[in-house]
Amino acid sequence: MSIMKAIKNRHCVRKFTGESVPHNKIIKLLEAARSAPSAGNSQPWRFYIVKNKGIQTMLSEAALDQKWMLTAPVIIVVCADLARSGEAYGQRGMGLYAYQDTAAAVENILLSVAELGLASCWVGAFREEMAAKALKIKDHSTIRPVAMLPVGYPAETPPPTPRRPLEEITIYLD
Ligand SMILES: Cc1cc2nc3c(=O)[nH]c(=O)nc-3n(C[C@H](O)[C@H](O)[C@H](O)COP(=O)(O)O)c2cc1C
Repeated sequence: MSIMKAIKNRHCVRKFTGESVPHNKIIKLLEAARSAPSAGNSQPWRFYIVKNKGIQTMLSEAALDQKWMLTAPVIIVVCADLARSGEAYGQRGMGLYAYQDTAAAVENILLSVAELGLASCWVGAFREEMAAKALKIKDHSTIRPVAMLPVGYPAETPPPTPRRPLEEITIYLD
């Protein structure tokens, strides 16, 4: 699949079939994630692969009770390793690069999800402390959960979401 096709095919899906995601596909998603660019190649990320239903339930509760997440066979939680970014770049690393780097990894996962015929949705609305507790992260000010990605086979085809026109968001300085 071309990159543009994967970009255009990627939509937030919030309903999944019960079919499990084969391990080799999860590895492909992680390969895509760790291939993302990062500031000074610091790679300040950590990926939790959650198949355990009890932990998934805790994550969904942390995510303001978004119960649809529980229809996914696996939830990938992408965390930013702030200490790692801070070591390399101080405040700018901890306050900016760590999130840019993990967001790049998230998008790589989402595009690969589309390419593999899977589906997902970026979940960012969650109570961090609850999420960290579910994942048994001891110091969540250092390892900060940034995004939860429920992944599975789609059980819905949502209509495409609108985008703002280019003229509204682009500034040409000739
Ligand atoms: C940072 C971020 C946080 C988001 N949080 C949630 C969320 O908590 N729950 C949810 O259902 N969708 C969430 N979304 C998905 C957006 O609603 C969705 O990407 C947007 O409406 C565009 O739709 P599309 O992804 O299908 O193109 C989030 C997306 C981003 C980038």
